[in-house]
Amino acid sequence: MDVALIELEADHPGFNDSAYRARRNEIAEVALGHTSGAPIPRINYTEVENQTWAEVYRGLTSLFATHACSEFNQVFSELNYPADRIPQIADVDAFMSHRTGFRMQPVAGLVGARDFLEHLSRRIFCSTQYIRYHDRPLYTPEPDICHELLGHAPMLAIPEFADLTQKIGEASRGVTDEQIEQLATLYWFTVEYGVVRQEGALKAYGAGLLSSYGELAHSLEGEVEIRPFEPAQTAVTPYPITSYQPVLWEVDSIGQAFEKIRRHLDSARR
Ligand SMILES: [Fe+2]
Repeated sequence: MDVALIELEADHPGFNDSAYRARRNEIAEVALGHTSGAPIPRINYTEVENQTWAEVYRGLTSLFATHACSEFNQVFSELNYPADRIPQIADVDAFMSHRTGFRMQPVAGLVGARDFLEHLSRRIFCSTQYIRYHDRPLYTPEPDICHELLGHAPMLAIPEFADLTQKIGEASRGVTDEQIEQLATLYWFTVEYGVVRQEGALKAYGAGLLSSYGELAHSLEGEVEIRPFEPAQTAVTPYPITSYQPVLWEVDSIGQAFEKIRRHLDSARR
């Protein structure tokens, strides 16, 4: 991947901690040195990093039974993550690829939308490997290993969801920047922030919700506007990236989300 080391924004909680920044860069550099298809490098995480994981894990797993969709909970129990240390992407990659063929590609930070979507079209998920700042374990302004492994990885091991994710990626081939933006928005409101109604109750299937202790509770407890998922409308709806989502889009099932997206993308192509 041609992604250089990304400098932290001044509002990142670890911005003023030079030791944190050096460590984050060290792990990001491992990703930069990795070539696609080679074994995924293992990181020797520190005690502090493992403690951060433990805290995030404890908070989120207290909500999953009531707030996550049933498919997620099934896969999550099979993943059998340790509560007290960060799982290795290499091991999660083996689990995911066995289930759905999705692979993990370590990256040094946020990847541009076109590049990211192109990887999805080949069932490759670009994943960060460093962890959020230890003083703010329940908050991160950027993707980190907690977001990838607690939000994305279980969902990408579910066949219907893997198909949906790849479908959005496939539509990115050869399209304009404006169309890329719409696909990124569709991705945002499904893969990151999707909600599904199961037995009458709203549950999360999006990784952004599933990996945020505060927003997961907030969003599913009547605090936000819920609209029926309509890809043509959803794809042009603006959204905030640094605050809780004011609007979420609901589906009856992950299969329904896939079908609606497939029909939308087919008609957009004609
Ligand atoms: Fe994400």
